[in-house]
Amino acid sequence: MDQRPHPLPGMSAWEYDALKADIRRFGVVYPVVKDEQGSIIDGRQRERVCRELGLANYPVQILAGLSEDEKMDRALVLNQARRRLSRRQMRDLIAAELRRTPDLSNNWMAQILGTMDKTVEAVRRGLVASSEIPRLDRLRGKDGKHRPVTRVATNTAREHRMAQDALRMLGDDAPRRRVELRHLERAARWKVGHVPLRAKAVPVVQDAQIRLLHCPFQELERVAGLQPGSVSLILTDIPYNQGFLAQVQELAAFAARALVEGGIFVTYSGQCHLDRVMQALGEHMVYRWTSCSHIRRHANLFHPAQCLSFWKPVLIYSKGDWRKRRQWHDFLSVDHEEKRWHAWQQPLEEVERLIRGFSEPGDLVCDPCGGGFTTAVACKLLGDRRCVSCDIDEPAVARGRERLAIEGGIA
Ligand SMILES: C[S@@+](CC[C@H](N)C(=O)[O-])C[C@H]1O[C@@H](n2cnc3c(N)ncnc32)[C@H](O)[C@@H]1O
Repeated sequence: MDQRPHPLPGMSAWEYDALKADIRRFGVVYPVVKDEQGSIIDGRQRERVCRELGLANYPVQILAGLSEDEKMDRALVLNQARRRLSRRQMRDLIAAELRRTPDLSNNWMAQILGTMDKTVEAVRRGLVASSEIPRLDRLRGKDGKHRPVTRVATNTAREHRMAQDALRMLGDDAPRRRVELRHLERAARWKVGHVPLRAKAVPVVQDAQIRLLHCPFQELERVAGLQPGSVSLILTDIPYNQGFLAQVQELAAFAARALVEGGIFVTYSGQCHLDRVMQALGEHMVYRWTSCSHIRRHANLFHPAQCLSFWKPVLIYSKGDWRKRRQWHDFLSVDHEEKRWHAWQQPLEEVERLIRGFSEPGDLVCDPCGGGFTTAVACKLLGDRRCVSCDIDEPAVARGRERLAIEGGIA
């Protein structure tokens, strides 16, 4: 980022100490945001705290392809989402921003800064009257100059370095969208002539090994020719309504047959009938853990309990011994909902993380309640897991196949 002064007021010593205590206790919740050169766009204080606490691994999001002005806009948006400014501070901030980019429309600037367009207009009038900025006939709106950006999320210093290497190799060919590190590396490998970035042979999965079937899960073994003890991970998302409860025990029995010894069963679950879901699953498998799936700044109101709920449980069971050995963490958090393919669709990034965390390359993954078939798409994108998935709803399967064809590639 360039060396222009940041227009937001600095953090007080008290605020900094509070941030440090928070990070010491909970780790870095909001990723540090950097550009492709490694300069910080947002999160200087968080990075300073990590340095002081000796934390090397913390989440970093890389945004590649932004102009200097766009980086500044991002920093403001991200900061504004977290900090509360006084009226005076907000007017000073608006004035600084209007001096920097007087051609930005009031409305767009108000959105960036999290204020009202009337407030921006009032500050603008004052600056025009004192000739600090020109009176402009045409202003630049939100869509006036939008360039898509490459976004990569990383969680460790090593992943961060790998993302930067891949971005360097790709240059202008970096995909302009949110992309998993693994896919970014794959695109970079492709560009530099298939030279492996990490010397590890992983089984490559053919399209035919991602199968989407139209049947109830109760018939999946027969329809898919699924052998007992052949599935390493069942990752699914059961319907949350009371009507499905009668089938949960059948699902657990199916899992107990299909899973390998030590195989893992993961399902998203609603809150309302959680006790009965857990009771039914526990009849055939061993309960291990509950992770939290959280979508930032998103909540659902549950009327019976009048609870504004910010998360949903992800239940984890095993068949027999828990063979999980690698370290993992149980807080899954993404930026926004994804509902393009199915009303109950889960975030792809999160599902990919669960697959990576609970299965190995070459494993067979199964989703017996496919819905939008996010599990199957994630396996296809990972490129090294086989997947069999089904849904009782025929149109959902047709859409799933369409999705697999559209989203299942690198581009
Ligand atoms: C919560 S949705 C799954 C959403 C999915 N995780 C996604 O990301 O799009 C549950 C799905 O289970 C399906 N379903 C319900 N009963 C089923 C059964 N007996 N066999 C197979 N699928 C079933 C429903 O049609 C629905 O599409």
